[in-house]
Amino acid sequence: MVVEEVEAPDPAEDQALVRLDAIGVNFIDVNQRSGAYPISLPFTPGTEGAGVVEAVGPRVSEVSPGDRVGYAGVPASYSQYATAKASRLVPLPDAVGTDLAAAVMLQGMTAHYLVNSICTLDEGDWCLIHAAAGGVGLVLTQLAKRRGLQVIGTVSTAEKAERARRAGVDHAIDYTQEDFAAVVDELTHGAGVRAVFESVGKSTFDKSLECLSKRGYMVLFGQASGPVDPVDIRRLQRGGSLFLTRPALVDYTSTDEELLWRGQEILGLVASGDLEVHVHERYPLTEAPVAHRALQTRQTTGKLLLIP
Ligand SMILES: NC(=O)c1ccc[n+]([C@@H]2O[C@H](COP(=O)([O-])OP(=O)(O)OC[C@H]3O[C@@H](n4cnc5c(N)ncnc54)[C@H](OP(=O)(O)O)[C@@H]3O)[C@@H](O)[C@H]2O)c1
Repeated sequence: MVVEEVEAPDPAEDQALVRLDAIGVNFIDVNQRSGAYPISLPFTPGTEGAGVVEAVGPRVSEVSPGDRVGYAGVPASYSQYATAKASRLVPLPDAVGTDLAAAVMLQGMTAHYLVNSICTLDEGDWCLIHAAAGGVGLVLTQLAKRRGLQVIGTVSTAEKAERARRAGVDHAIDYTQEDFAAVVDELTHGAGVRAVFESVGKSTFDKSLECLSKRGYMVLFGQASGPVDPVDIRRLQRGGSLFLTRPALVDYTSTDEELLWRGQEILGLVASGDLEVHVHERYPLTEAPVAHRALQTRQTTGKLLLIP
């Protein structure tokens, strides 16, 4: 990645120009930069940010100049200014700063759809959350606990275990030291968990399938360790009539109404103090490569921000 000076873009007729106060760093940025997810070059990374509306196109009624907004899913966000379709911007409550909004839009709405919209989860159900001290992991853990779930979280260090416990994880497993499937079996007395929230992918997927109860849900939503090999569909039957899904945030925020519902609920929880957002570090925008290196070498917990 290199820094370039370019003209600030003009908003199209249905767009707003947002002056960014903070930009969220997400694993998708790493996957796009590394080539794991195909993109065409030249390419500006980043899909998440928050700031102040500076100008709007002639057909925009949703926001006005001066409004504070946040978003996820807007390309080319590693920048001082971003243009976004105005209907995809979420107005910020007074109590939420642009800094925290940029930290929670993408991972918060992801955690929201994972807990609320993939499958029915009942109070007392067990779930397994991989990388529980990560950006999505810490928010997902808190939302899962609010739903009354029993949460087992995996982490790679004692410090991360402590961070995950503070977010509400009932049992933290260091999966670099322990066989997490054996621990899950023991904790659930052989029954297994109703859902695995699997974002690590290649290195954990097979064992994660072993952790599921009959008719359990394998929710493969990321691949931080690499892509999962093709799956023999018969394994789902052998595992006990399992479900397998590979969801993406874009499909769970496909209408403006759904996006606003998820975005406003998450920001509302932050505003009321019911959802804690842990910012690991704020880097100057020009240090985006340093932030990427930290994220992809597992040195971080919670959120990384870039500040223009
Ligand atoms: N599908 C969707 O809608 C969606 C939306 C948002 C994010 N995601 C996915 O969710 C996952 C988490 O995203 P995030 O931005 O919050 O990142 P993150 O969880 O803060 O960082 C990734 C974490 O994965 C764990 N990990 C395990 N093996 C790894 C390896 N070989 N290389 C790097 N990390 C490894 C590390 O935690 P430990 O050190 O504790 O193992 C690391 O901290 C990513 O896979 C991302 O692509 C998916």
